[in-house]
Amino acid sequence: MTPGFFISLEGGEGSGKSTQGQRLAEHLRKAGAEVVLTREPGGTPQGEALRALLVSGDTQSWSPASEAMLMSAAREVLVRTVIAPALERGATVISDRFLDSTRVYQGHAGGVPHDVIAALEWAAVGKCVPHLTLIFDLPASEGLARAQSRGTDSEDRFERKGLTFHEKLREGFQAIARSEPWRCVMINAARDRDLVFADVLQAVEQHRHG
Ligand SMILES: Nc1ncnc2c1ncn2[C@@H]1O[C@H](COP(=O)(O)OP(=O)(O)O)[C@@H](O)[C@H]1O
Ligand SMILES: [Mg+2]
Repeated sequence: MTPGFFISLEGGEGSGKSTQGQRLAEHLRKAGAEVVLTREPGGTPQGEALRALLVSGDTQSWSPASEAMLMSAAREVLVRTVIAPALERGATVISDRFLDSTRVYQGHAGGVPHDVIAALEWAAVGKCVPHLTLIFDLPASEGLARAQSRGTDSEDRFERKGLTFHEKLREGFQAIARSEPWRCVMINAARDRDLVFADVLQAVEQHRHG
């Protein structure tokens, strides 16, 4: 066990992950913690280069299997160079998306076989699994409307995959929350951001001391 605390934020487009992640990082920093806030795909120079390839352009430019491999390559670098060292020195790491996004986007919704996802996960993550995963849950249509209201955003390759795809994402995240309750807390994200944040804090306090 490393001395640090590892939180991942998961859920569909526009579910409030980045909003709540920023807020949580600020809150924990004010309380004196060292907080490393990172994101996927990205968080390292290599990962940000892969992000640029993955999140913009034609929806068909990568198959889900290619996406899974590229996401995993970016994740391996992020874990090895950022997350694991931060946890070793006792920091709190918050990752805006992590392994569950690959399970859901490329596995559950993308159709990549479970064994392939599991092997890539082992190669990229090893034992560096989050202590706590917050799953921001809201109807796909609401999330997409929020994401679109963010305005000019060229990082919309996944947003453009259509409502049915995004409904599958929601279902996939809900299934993970049910199957790994020791790690996952589902948050009702279809509410005012202050109410959402209160649930975020409660989950973090419970899991940090639990
Ligand atoms: N609880 C909320 N209610 C309404 N709008 C929200 C809420 N939380 C975030 N938003 C807005 O919705 C959009 C998407 O939020 P964001 O945090 O970027 O989601 P994500 O990172 O999950 O895609 C942003 O414009 C954000 O300001
Ligand atoms: Mg975001």
